[in-house]
Amino acid sequence: MAKKVLVINGPNLNLLGEREPEIYGSKSLKEIESELTELARKAKVEVEFFQSNHEGEIVDKIQKARADTGCIIINPAAFTHTSVAIRDALASVKIPAVEVHLSNIYGREDFRHHSYIAAVVRGQIAGFGAYGYILAFHAALEIMRK
Ligand code: DQA
Repeated sequence: MAKKVLVINGPNLNLLGEREPEIYGSKSLKEIESELTELARKAKVEVEFFQSNHEGEIVDKIQKARADTGCIIINPAAFTHTSVAIRDALASVKIPAVEVHLSNIYGREDFRHHSYIAAVVRGQIAGFGAYGYILAFHAALEIMRK
């Protein structure tokens, strides 16, 4: 299992911990990333983190992942509900991906009920807060093992 796991977070997730904590929890993105780093160390896989508030940068990152990435974990944040470009990038690179949302997007406003990403990922995890990233990491390991 030489390949790495790439964890991509979209807009405003750099503010986790201070951003609407009643919805997104009190953990910062750095805290989530260090938990995943620890999991990766135990599983002996490489992990890389990328956060951007810009759609095109996320598309570029997905394209570049072709070289060395075994699985992408992605929380596209607001782009989940708007971005055909991120959807197409994921479909183009054919790297298996796991979609994560801290909140249960289906229990919130109608505009959050549709994900452009869901159809091109292996599966989606939503509603478990920061723990969703841990679940996604285990899913990524399982995908890469097969
Ligand atoms: C989110 C849900 C999205 O609807 C929202 O725009 C976000 C975060 C989540 O993790 O619950 O920014 O992806």
